[in-house]
Amino acid sequence: MSHVSLGLPRVGAPGEAVVDEDDPGRATGPLRDTFGRVATDLRISLTDRCNLRCTYCMPAEGLDWLPADELLTLAELTRLMRIAVMDLGIREIRFTGGEPLLRRDLPEIIAAAAALEPRPELALTTNGLGLARKAPALAAAGLNRVNVSLDSIDRAEYAEITRRDRLQDVLDGMAAAHDAGLRPVKVNAVLKPNLNAADAPKLLQYCLDHGYELRIIEQMPLDAGHDWQRSTMITAAQTRAVLGEKFALTKATEPRGAAPAQRWLVDGGPATVGIIASVSEPFCGDCDRTRLTADGQLRNCLFAREESDLRALLRGGATDDQIARRWRASMWAKRAGHGIDDPGFHQPDRPMSAIGG
Ligand code: 5AD
Ligand code: SF4
Repeated sequence: MSHVSLGLPRVGAPGEAVVDEDDPGRATGPLRDTFGRVATDLRISLTDRCNLRCTYCMPAEGLDWLPADELLTLAELTRLMRIAVMDLGIREIRFTGGEPLLRRDLPEIIAAAAALEPRPELALTTNGLGLARKAPALAAAGLNRVNVSLDSIDRAEYAEITRRDRLQDVLDGMAAAHDAGLRPVKVNAVLKPNLNAADAPKLLQYCLDHGYELRIIEQMPLDAGHDWQRSTMITAAQTRAVLGEKFALTKATEPRGAAPAQRWLVDGGPATVGIIASVSEPFCGDCDRTRLTADGQLRNCLFAREESDLRALLRGGATDDQIARRWRASMWAKRAGHGIDDPGFHQPDRPMSAIGG
């Protein structure tokens, strides 16, 4: 195929579409796409519900939750994870939401994933509510690591952003996860101007004091209200400037691979802070992700316009091979990048809470 120019960030080496004449990427093997990327990281949203209402994610009144019978069951999840790991080369599974701790069968889901061969790395992205009580059981089930969403350690700021006065529960949850060996505890933060942005150094200091790894993420257009504006997004460069007022940041030299965070040594290291420039410096060219929604829809990107209905296949009696083929075909169609800067950019209908972070 000739050189493809999509007006998007350069992806894959050498930036040209790849076609294997013997097997055009659909029938066998791992989850490849036409830009040479291979997906090895599966993100599964276990529920679209949440017990917080972060202003950049959900409206105050919540959303219309998926009916229970549309969610994948433990048995269905177990089957898809087996196909993903054994047939499609998935090496890491991250459970997300909504809020995944709201799934009462989470320990069983984790244990089912941990029983697979080769055993995948298992991580959880959570808002931390209830984690203090659940962390030991999750670690015992086989969970390796957690990312906890925390935008501020100021109680009033936290309550304003999440619309719930629950800061202490989150702090207790992070400590319990650390004690249970779910390390390194990573902390995900989104900054908002005139709210928590100026306090980012305090959040970093708290993480340094407790041995947690802070990662600050640029806000992406994935809010339920569709009122994201680039002009009110705190950019990675602005984040570096705010943190730079209190700390000396030097770029870590280790290769970044598919990790979205650029890590910075804090005051010479060894502690680091990660800054995720999803919008201003996209890393789509190194993406290694495939995503499954709580209702069994496969997405090849956070910003995908199409989904593949794996739940219909599961419930319609499809074979493992048919499911694996659909999965490969979905990933083969992955676009070069999110295209947020393109004039024709179209925000996905599903908000972040229904896709999974
Ligand atoms: N942009 C960037 N990050 C977001 N998160 C939620 N919505 C957005 C958004 N629009 C973060 C949450 C959580 C993780 C799942 O994604 O703060 O840490
Ligand atoms: Fe819940 Fe996460 Fe959305 Fe906040 S960002 S409302 S914690 S799903």
